[in-house]
Amino acid sequence: MAMQAADSGPRHPERTQEQIDAFLAERTLIVASNRGPVTFSAEDDGTFSARKGSGGVVTAVAAIAREQKPIWIAAAMTDGDRARAEIAERRGEALIGFGADSEFRLRFVVPSAASYHQYYNVISNPLLWFLQHYLWDTPRTPDITAETWEAWHDGYVAVNRLFADEILAACEQCEDQPVVMLQDYQLYLCGGFIRERNPNAILQHFVHIPWPDPDYWRLLPLAMRRAICEGMLGNDVVGFQTPEHARSFMYTCEAYVPGASIDYVNLEIAWRGRTIEVRSYPISIDTEAVRAAAYSKEARSHDRYLPNHWNEFTVLRVDRAEPSKNIVRGFLAFDRFLEAHEEFQGRVNFVAITVPSRMDVHEYQDYLDDVSAAVGRINARYANVETGWQPIHVIMGENYARALAAMKWYDVLLVNSIIDGMNLVAKEGALLNERNGVLIISEGAGAVTQLGEHSLIIAPTDVEGTADALFEALTMPLPERRRRAEGLRRAVEEDDVAAWFRRQLADIVRYASPDERGSAAPNEDDGARPRIVSLPISAQTD
Ligand code: G6P
Repeated sequence: MAMQAADSGPRHPERTQEQIDAFLAERTLIVASNRGPVTFSAEDDGTFSARKGSGGVVTAVAAIAREQKPIWIAAAMTDGDRARAEIAERRGEALIGFGADSEFRLRFVVPSAASYHQYYNVISNPLLWFLQHYLWDTPRTPDITAETWEAWHDGYVAVNRLFADEILAACEQCEDQPVVMLQDYQLYLCGGFIRERNPNAILQHFVHIPWPDPDYWRLLPLAMRRAICEGMLGNDVVGFQTPEHARSFMYTCEAYVPGASIDYVNLEIAWRGRTIEVRSYPISIDTEAVRAAAYSKEARSHDRYLPNHWNEFTVLRVDRAEPSKNIVRGFLAFDRFLEAHEEFQGRVNFVAITVPSRMDVHEYQDYLDDVSAAVGRINARYANVETGWQPIHVIMGENYARALAAMKWYDVLLVNSIIDGMNLVAKEGALLNERNGVLIISEGAGAVTQLGEHSLIIAPTDVEGTADALFEALTMPLPERRRRAEGLRRAVEEDDVAAWFRRQLADIVRYASPDERGSAAPNEDDGARPRIVSLPISAQTD
């Protein structure tokens, strides 16, 4: 079914940057995400050191934090975080400030270690992440056992409640009416819990990962999938990476939320007397910060030894060791390419920068083993003992500056994710590469919508097709490569993370204005009246 871009619902007028700024000037911004901007470690001298958190959510929100200075609510994930939170509690510090000019103001949610484990390692990552990336081998997994249900109640539900409590407490301490922006799949129930206790809260939830179709959600028991949808419907606006995921969300609510009425034209859901807007906002990178980091002193220090891994031709990939990234099939495609094009043997290196991830989840450990086995087998097959050449070079470990430094030099960047919310590596590479490198991108990556026109697009399972794409990319004439590389760079520069954030705020401003607010007819199941939120700013902005 054809659908308009989900970020351009027709009912509400555009807002200017001045109107958005005026709206925000009067309000506190509260961002909540599982992982916070930093992780604390206790030092021997009783002080704490703070290390920047990693991953798409943290990077994007940190980029906008510099200007907006939000209150950031995050889970205490490590012993250091818990110790720092305890000290804040003892000292009666409402917010932990850190960074230059206290750019971050943090409140920790502190679940017990057991509850956090159930929420993070049993439900969020193996269950929801796997579901939303279509990663299950359905004849075998998942098994929803008594242990899963226990983790759902004592972990996922409980930690979401703690987040809601903390957000409500933070709202109470604000003199204005804050805007709350919830992030990602770990916090699906939070919006509903907050709405129960604060009907006038301004709530938005952005989902950074794909949203599957209703049939696939059926693999999760009804009570869980319904609680997730209803929790999301506690928000005023829900945002997704692509219009397709936004549409899947509406289909899922239609299928599983009694009384929800879906307006596929205006991209709204009416439920329990309220109207929820469903939008898409493709996330991007902070182009200025990424460039600065790629040419920083630290990144330049890697320029000295990284070339040891380069060859006449270099294929690069950069990912967490994550099943959805499809690393093994990428190597199989390279194997097939070397077999089919012997003339490239000895002249091309595949450099894989791989960050071990979620090692407490056994599927991730197994996947890392699979990656290592594939590398070992392919290197053993082609390695040349006389020249010392081996085709695949794995650089293991988390080092952002090194990854960015490497992106300047590839001839081909391979992003063959099975399915991916966006894939920011594709955008970082497009921005930084200095060799007119070709992007090979999976049609399952959200970034394909913006970058596909200038890339070679592959089906993620198509090993043969990916091998062909590698050949096409490595033999592409320079003018064609240059044309594509310029197109890629432009696409990223024109639509960076600030635009992603601004679009969300523009919708919050539009939606928070009483006369713009959709007034859904009360549903039969509860007869509640439409919620009218009265916000002073609307008078000035209209
Ligand atoms: C990636 C995804 C995010 C997700 C994060 C969680 O960055 O893009 O959507 O929230 O992983 O990772 P973590 O390491 O915090 O569990």
